[in-house]
Amino acid sequence: MPQHDDMLTAQPLESERGLEERLRPTDLSEFVGQSGLCDNLRVFIKAARERGEPLDHVLFYGPPGLGKTALAHVIAREMGAPLRVTAGPVVERAGDLAAIVTNLEPGEVLFIDEIHRLSAAVEEILYPAMEDFKLDLIVGQGPSARTVKIDLPRFTLVGATTRASLLTSPLRDRFGVTARLNYYPPSDLVQILDRSARILQVSLDADGALEIARRSRGTPRVANRLLRRVRDFAEVEGDGKIARAVARYALERLEVDEAGFDRMDRQLLLVLIEKYGGGPAGLETLAAAIGEDKGTIEEIYEPFLIQEGFLDRTPRGRMATQRAFDHFDIAPPKRAPSAPNRRQPKLL
Ligand SMILES: Nc1ncnc2c1ncn2[C@@H]1O[C@H](COP(=O)(O)OP(=O)(O)OP(=O)(O)O)[C@@H](O)[C@H]1O
Ligand SMILES: [Mg+2]
Repeated sequence: MPQHDDMLTAQPLESERGLEERLRPTDLSEFVGQSGLCDNLRVFIKAARERGEPLDHVLFYGPPGLGKTALAHVIAREMGAPLRVTAGPVVERAGDLAAIVTNLEPGEVLFIDEIHRLSAAVEEILYPAMEDFKLDLIVGQGPSARTVKIDLPRFTLVGATTRASLLTSPLRDRFGVTARLNYYPPSDLVQILDRSARILQVSLDADGALEIARRSRGTPRVANRLLRRVRDFAEVEGDGKIARAVARYALERLEVDEAGFDRMDRQLLLVLIEKYGGGPAGLETLAAAIGEDKGTIEEIYEPFLIQEGFLDRTPRGRMATQRAFDHFDIAPPKRAPSAPNRRQPKLL
């Protein structure tokens, strides 16, 4: 069984890749939540289809497990187009990308995951491909080298990244549509869980679903993972049905945090509370203290903690909120009295 550390991580576990495929929404009607984004996509897709053109290039960014890959699949399906999937670290050389784009079918959706990890040389090739559907190939070497332009089929690039700040601006500027995915409220996660329960043929009632949803860190991937683990408890120690009581029991057995915190969330807040008296502490200081990269903290961990009211970003640094102290059942330190030298009256 995975450690409870693994239980709540928003990163995919190796063992659940097959499951993710089964649970992936196929079209926009099955994609729950992110309504502003989905409404816009619906319009752009309809307009492109009516014009008989491929959709503009789309960039999705946001923390892991929120549906970026799922949306790439949804877009291809809604456009009635084939999908080609690759990832930044896989496309090592300019020639690798050239091979991919020259083999696309007209209208095909090319999904590049972890697009922030493309090398500069590959990006150079990508710019004209995105902009004019042309490939600038350099033929020959040295003084006799020349560029040859090759026409490409018109395609849609869908890029995804958890680290938007690492994208170069020329790349970012070449996307017609850029959208951030946000954490899901429990009501959306309940809908996602209901759908997953139907697919997995698990009996899940409304209270059971809410119990799981509340502890899923706003993340569909985590919700689906907890559903499977809770089902194990329901089957082995209950009647197989997931209702509130068995969900609570299972989540406690799994040591799933009430707030849905994963290991890094806890570590970040505890260091801030225990080492820095709740802050303020600078991002660099915190990053060094927990051994995590600054940008990862800022883009992957903090947004959830801030949204849920456990952490504040202040001009003087990060501060743990009262809610964070309450969560760990730690009393906040007494702040220095505001009037200097004020003495407490002696109790006789
Ligand atoms: N809005 C949604 N409705 C239904 N299921 C969803 C939704 N968003 C995500 N899921 C499901 O949650 C799981 C994780 O989603 P996905 O793989 O798309 O996340 P991601 O943003 O690409 O994560 P990563 O950054 O790790 O690549 C998948 O099984 C997906 O089908
Ligand atoms: Mg993904």
